[in-house]
Amino acid sequence: MRAHASDRLSEASTYNLVVLLVGANMVKVVVLPILFATLLFSTALGEKPKAEAFGKTAAGKAVSLFTLKNDNGMVAKVMTRGATLVELHVPDRDGQLADVVFGFDDVAGYESADNAYFGCTAGRVANRIARGKFTLDGKEYSLAINNEPNHLHGGVERSLDKVVWDAKPLDNKYGRGVRFSYTSPDGEEGYPGTLTVTVTYILPKKRNVLDIRYTASTDKATPINLTNHAYFNLSGHGSETIHEHVLRLNADKYTPVDDTLIPTGEIASVEGTPLDFRKPRKIGARIEQLAKTAALGYDHNFVLNEPESDDKPNLAAILFDKSSGRRLRISTTEPGIQFYSGNFLAGAKGKDGKVYAHQSGLCLETQHFPDSINQPKFPNTVLQPGEEFTSLTRLSFSTDADAAGKKSPASPKKAK
Ligand code: GLA
Repeated sequence: MRAHASDRLSEASTYNLVVLLVGANMVKVVVLPILFATLLFSTALGEKPKAEAFGKTAAGKAVSLFTLKNDNGMVAKVMTRGATLVELHVPDRDGQLADVVFGFDDVAGYESADNAYFGCTAGRVANRIARGKFTLDGKEYSLAINNEPNHLHGGVERSLDKVVWDAKPLDNKYGRGVRFSYTSPDGEEGYPGTLTVTVTYILPKKRNVLDIRYTASTDKATPINLTNHAYFNLSGHGSETIHEHVLRLNADKYTPVDDTLIPTGEIASVEGTPLDFRKPRKIGARIEQLAKTAALGYDHNFVLNEPESDDKPNLAAILFDKSSGRRLRISTTEPGIQFYSGNFLAGAKGKDGKVYAHQSGLCLETQHFPDSINQPKFPNTVLQPGEEFTSLTRLSFSTDADAAGKKSPASPKKAK
């Protein structure tokens, strides 16, 4: 970032004052190098992502887009509508960048019926609540039924994916990013309590990692479950299918569901089922066995194995695409992950005219278990006043070339 004229003036007068106080020699030997180092440091830190206009919602609200870049050429674009991840460009084994997430070119696309939660922050309660009902502190609450006969992803009009958030660009020792914040009024989409939520995306300068951090606080007890709903295709968005992607999940167990995709309450072993991804398996290898179920493929919550330590996010999933060599490793502080194989995608037209066909993208949604508010044996999702909810999900990208010890080129080529 360039220094302003006023900054340079104040630097000059500081210099004269220092010369008067400590003498010219001292200035040359000690003060100048310190000043120089400080200037260099502040230049390196001064690159907060800038807001760009992305368009307006149908209701006339301006939406901003922020571009985060790291020193390796990785790029993430995030917008204020739904605190959404819009683009994510990562290098393949030859350093070639591709955008590996689904999205639209404009706000109208995101507001259309084609948008199956692409890249958004889902909530207040991500995934399903059975029949849209729960009881908390003796009071029964009714929510919108937007996925017959259940409530899905926080509701219809004012769920977290649909509102426009405030944004604060960041540039700090962890990297460049944006902190989105939104205060949801008491009763919005039927949920109790005024809920203040933040979602922070950070791209470290030297590593191909995207961190997504969440915080939430409330003035009344209320259920929350926050996730990012990015659809990945590591060959690039718009590529044909994810059947050839190889997946490993750090989960011995999952939560079986009824035919409306609500957990039965049981926690079952993946052993002997098509849900066994304890060793890396091709997604397409057993997906047909699930084609006749209500989910039409994979759409299950996996119970993550206990973390080895509680000071680091726990390994959740490793996804690998042989054709590009890209590998995505997801770690999280959340107890579960929803693996959804894009079964309800039906050819929506997305960014750059790309078509998003059935099972051409997959979601790995780190989360608390679906319908936890009605399942006393699942980990708690009720946030109490005075508590702060925090959570971290880390998306780390590498390639098979890195793994083979050949580092991918420092400055990747531009995507075609
Ligand atoms: C989640 C659900 C799926 C589906 C998608 C959105 O992943 O589990 O059943 O509703 O969101 O289309």
